[in-house]
Amino acid sequence: MILLTGGTGYIGSHTAVELLQSGEEIVIADDFSNSNEEVLKRMETLTGKKIPFYQIDVKDKKALKKVFEDQAEPIRCVIHFAGFKAVGESVKEPVKYYRNNLDTTLSLLEVMQEKQVKQFIFSSSATLYGKSKGKAPFTEDEPDTGCTNPYGWTKWMIEQILQDVCVADPEFSAVMLRYFNPIGAHESGLLGERPNGIPNNLMPYITQVAIGKLDHLRVFGDDYDTPDGTGVRDYIHVVDLAKGHVAACDYIKEHKGAEVINLGTGVGYSVLDIVHAFEEANGIRIPYEIVERRAGDVATMYADASKARRLLDWKAEKDLTQMCRDSWRFEQML
Ligand code: UD1
Repeated sequence: MILLTGGTGYIGSHTAVELLQSGEEIVIADDFSNSNEEVLKRMETLTGKKIPFYQIDVKDKKALKKVFEDQAEPIRCVIHFAGFKAVGESVKEPVKYYRNNLDTTLSLLEVMQEKQVKQFIFSSSATLYGKSKGKAPFTEDEPDTGCTNPYGWTKWMIEQILQDVCVADPEFSAVMLRYFNPIGAHESGLLGERPNGIPNNLMPYITQVAIGKLDHLRVFGDDYDTPDGTGVRDYIHVVDLAKGHVAACDYIKEHKGAEVINLGTGVGYSVLDIVHAFEEANGIRIPYEIVERRAGDVATMYADASKARRLLDWKAEKDLTQMCRDSWRFEQML
């Protein structure tokens, strides 16, 4: 049995479906702070399974203990997705971010310690490479230079906590998955990303322009040192990312200690590549204007994805056209 905190969120919900389809048993703990019951229903429709679910705050240790105690089959592994993730908001409300992201993790670790559960998979981020002086592709042992915002620092701190836990307990295993830029949606159109308010990230912004909710895309700078001057990122289909977690759940059975693994495709695309791919895949024009650079953005960020391939026997399979088609299908079905 695998526990998913934040299992009805964007990445959590896709991972839950892939785990169930691979034959794993799961239980979900989520407070619906960035999702809702409808997502859970859709996950059940997709898999044809009833999913054990607890609407709890993961900071609440008493409620969390009950999740571990209630299960007929013991929980062997936890995938910790639950966390706040809006970069801009984290700059404005740092205390809220540190409190939530650190407290959920610490409560979880304390309860796991008590219940003798020793497998932890963590949703980390490529944002940890954001201040690096090095050049893409980034490997996991890129020298640590810290982060540019509180959201990133929470990921940095939690990685450190997990490293320390692994030193203290040689039986403990922590796999820290550094995501690059997940986009796309489930091909059924039933699951995807639902940002609150005006989206900060590129693909949700594009789909909202496509459907007419937003007037045009603003491209943040075209004077970067990249082939067309716009920022280059490693966009990965969320279902591929979900499958990376399934592989990590297998890997962690035999593994002890702390391991950091990039989940990306290893290929970089520019903002304009994405705009043109979306236009071509879906036959819709996306009007855009070039505006000033966005503070904190880097020119180029993509993964060296070879460690995931080596350790997890996993690689991303879906191409940019599929990412664009699936993102658009979901937006239309919202
Ligand atoms: C952002 C976060 C990163 C986080 C990730 C989660 C920042 C600085 N970084 O990554 O920490 O882990 O989301 O998904 O917020 N762009 C536009 N116009 C837009 C939106 C984006 O031109 O309206 C450009 C950006 O300048 C960038 C690219 O599109 O070059 C991707 O941006 P975004 O989707 O926000 O992701 P990241 O900034 O890479």
